[in-house]
Amino acid sequence: MKDQASKLRDIHRIKRLTAEQLRPVRRLAVTSGKGGVGKSNVSLNLALCFQKLGRRTLLVDADTNLANIDILLGINPEFTLADAILKDQFIMDVLVQGPEGLRILPAGSGVVELVGLDEMVADRLSVALSELERHQDLIVLDTGAGISEGVVEFASGSDEVIIITTPEPTAITDAYAAIKVISSRNAAAKLYLLVNQAKSKEEADEVGRKISLVVENYLATTLETLGWLPSDPHVPQSVARQTPFLLACPRCPASTHLMMIARRLLRLPVQFTGRTFFHNFLGAGKREKELA
Ligand SMILES: Nc1ncnc2c1ncn2[C@@H]1O[C@H](COP(=O)(O)OP(=O)(O)O)[C@@H](O)[C@H]1O
Ligand SMILES: [Mg+2]
Repeated sequence: MKDQASKLRDIHRIKRLTAEQLRPVRRLAVTSGKGGVGKSNVSLNLALCFQKLGRRTLLVDADTNLANIDILLGINPEFTLADAILKDQFIMDVLVQGPEGLRILPAGSGVVELVGLDEMVADRLSVALSELERHQDLIVLDTGAGISEGVVEFASGSDEVIIITTPEPTAITDAYAAIKVISSRNAAAKLYLLVNQAKSKEEADEVGRKISLVVENYLATTLETLGWLPSDPHVPQSVARQTPFLLACPRCPASTHLMMIARRLLRLPVQFTGRTFFHNFLGAGKREKELA
């Protein structure tokens, strides 16, 4: 436990850090319009790809309604981010060590609501997470589905957002709705599309073309197609065994496609906002504007 004075010192210290002093950390949120399209499986296995490619990666389980990274890994986290905020638990104690050296931060429910309520809570969260961010090369956030407040906050607090859809018409329509909301909240975010559970490259390309066309015509943003994952029976099998498919079958189609996507992401240029994730996430910009 920290005393009040030391907590205040932390807050002031973090607030003094300038953009130059903050190491650029790449933040990738994984989101979707529709639920059940593969966000958690992609987030976890993509984070493992990055880890295998030598990047120190933090996976944040930010789906505050249906957190299930722990279930995919068969682990039982003792604390969540909500405990770090509410019960003064040290953020390092909340971290869970995953396979391949991956670090996992279970967000727990209620975090977004907490932050919205109280500036002191927001500051505490900002301090705790800015500290964490300094030790990572990459942060992958598994967010919830849809366009609810919490999801949009997490997604629009990231520099890069991967929107996942399947070829189903309902998933495509909902993906477009999510892109619309996220781009209106964070015009600078780079948006990528990942088509999951496609039968073929042709089918995935067709989905990509459809969504990109509507985005280009109606929204002031662009969407880059990142790649696709085939429907692969190894995925549900590995879910049942609570072992990520990348580790259970590194050569199965889902793993090889995802590894290509990870390599591609690492080759793409990144525009860092120079702000900490949590500065973005907490809507500090929004608050500053309100105060001005
Ligand atoms: N590429 C795939 N091939 C086959 N099944 C998949 C694939 N991706 C996801 N699934 C299945 O879809 C279900 C939902 O995946 P999940 O990652 O939990 O989605 P979300 O996090 O979007 O709700 C899981 O049961 C998983 O086995
Ligand atoms: Mg999920």
